[in-house]
Amino acid sequence: MAAQSAIHTSASLQAANAPTFASMEGQLDPALLRGLKEMKFDFMTPVQEQVLQRLPSMGSDCLVQAKTGTGKTIAFLIPAIQNILQYSTRKGQVSILVLSPTRELAVQIADEAKLLVSKFKRPIEVHTAVGGTTKESALSKFKLGDPKILVATPGRLNDYLSEGNVRAKFDDMKTLILDEADRMLDAGFLPAILQILHALPPKSGPKGQWQGMCFSATVPPKMEQVFAHILSKDHVAVSTIDKSEPPTLAKVPQFSVLIAKVEQTFTALYSILEEEIKATEGVPKIIVFGTTAKLVALYAKIYDRQLGLPVFELHSRLTQTARTRATAAFKETKTGIMFASDVIGRGMDFPDVSLVLQVGLPADADAYTHRVGRTARAGKDGKAILLLTEAESFYLKANRQFPIQPYPHSDTVVNDASATIVNDVLQTIEPEVKQKAYSAYLGFMKVATNKMRMTPEQLVGMANVFAVDGMGCEEVPPMEKSTISKMGLKGVRGINYATKSNPTPAQRGPASFAKATQAPPKGRNGPRAAKSSEKQFPSSNSMLARPRQQGRHRGRGGNGEAEAW
Ligand code: CDP
Ligand code: MG
Repeated sequence: MAAQSAIHTSASLQAANAPTFASMEGQLDPALLRGLKEMKFDFMTPVQEQVLQRLPSMGSDCLVQAKTGTGKTIAFLIPAIQNILQYSTRKGQVSILVLSPTRELAVQIADEAKLLVSKFKRPIEVHTAVGGTTKESALSKFKLGDPKILVATPGRLNDYLSEGNVRAKFDDMKTLILDEADRMLDAGFLPAILQILHALPPKSGPKGQWQGMCFSATVPPKMEQVFAHILSKDHVAVSTIDKSEPPTLAKVPQFSVLIAKVEQTFTALYSILEEEIKATEGVPKIIVFGTTAKLVALYAKIYDRQLGLPVFELHSRLTQTARTRATAAFKETKTGIMFASDVIGRGMDFPDVSLVLQVGLPADADAYTHRVGRTARAGKDGKAILLLTEAESFYLKANRQFPIQPYPHSDTVVNDASATIVNDVLQTIEPEVKQKAYSAYLGFMKVATNKMRMTPEQLVGMANVFAVDGMGCEEVPPMEKSTISKMGLKGVRGINYATKSNPTPAQRGPASFAKATQAPPKGRNGPRAAKSSEKQFPSSNSMLARPRQQGRHRGRGGNGEAEAW
């Protein structure tokens, strides 16, 4: 795979007069150069060139910003590996520690590192420490082996570091790398990173100073203070991004589709996928990003077998085995549609993705940049589409830095033919899946209530219409009181509280669905969406009602998605 993409890349890099790795002979170990050759990387990408030329030594600290898919992994692995070759390290000691926000990215980085060191006579072992796998087997391999390079996610690494004898294996650490550094140092991860730093040798200690490297496509301006945990004051700052241009790749045409009503989402998504598959020159390989794991699960069920392409699914609510399988399969496949959450929003290198389609609000501007960055990697072409409702259109106004154009087929994406297909499929989907998607949607959208200029009642009304008219639920799905409280929506009109006599579909069990499918209710997510739900549920026509309770503002995702990154 890497070899195939590199053939294209080599051509464009060569055309751009990029320097060759071979020109580094004498500065880079011959085995490293052989590793690069084996990977079919002859020419340096701009970020690789900058890092190799601008660092005063291979052991220098650096903060590096370069766009998605431009080869940052190799750009940090080469200096880090070259740097440790000058030391004679003790067996069993970790020399290079790479931290990644997700398990899948950690495995991908480790795979790239393994290829890069494959030509050394004395093997350089590359290990991973990631969540979701049985800790014991990886840990015992780690303890018994000689893990010169460790790629880890913060949670599992902290688990490892709680053992004194494991902590001692980092005494000689020479390099600490934060990939997706801005994410690793944001509020969500910072406590775990600080805990790791506390367990590792000090930045400057009796054994000298370890090298700190921070890499990302996005580096928010306010992050200098947190970088100080990893980087020395005199670190080199490298950026291949011109500040006047958008952070997304210039070659990716970007479009937005605005639909009037949220209940049209499934129909519009179907039409866009159908249109794009038809229009793709070459082979369509598509990633559809949804806002929460449960919505992604629902999309995967709806569009499976509907569009003539294999469907893949990847989010935090799957087992790690399923996640690993989906990742490997989507890397391997020539064509298909991957329905995913932000678990693969950053860093993942799936070859030849032709289209990234985002449904609903990206978590922020950087999330948009990184998701779009899953396409047009390593010099390839790509396209991006963002599907939003009118209520969510504030996102476009707030993010004018992106060159997003109106989608040419916007007017026709909500049509009867697509609605009929989607509604038929929706009738076959278990109420439990829909109930969870509804609850996740509400939890996620709660955070955007103010930005959409909505009251909590209006938000609940919108979610209710989404469930009944969009998903074809028989009624507003009941939710447990505890879930509603967690979302900060207690007392808001329109919510259907679960009770013993009104259980959630999960509590009711699968038998009820078997009965329900004998006389399925018709979904109404087509262009002539009925207004019936507005009559049934007072909250949806309470557009003039004043908010009774402004729920507590909760973190991204609310109850909807607690992504286990
Ligand atoms: O981290 P970033 O998003 O910048 O990109 P990456 O995942 O490190 O690399 C993107 C793609 O570029 C991968 O498929 C690499 O195999 C390929 N590539 C490279 O890294 N270096 C080259 N000199 C040529 C190709
Ligand atoms: Mg990367």
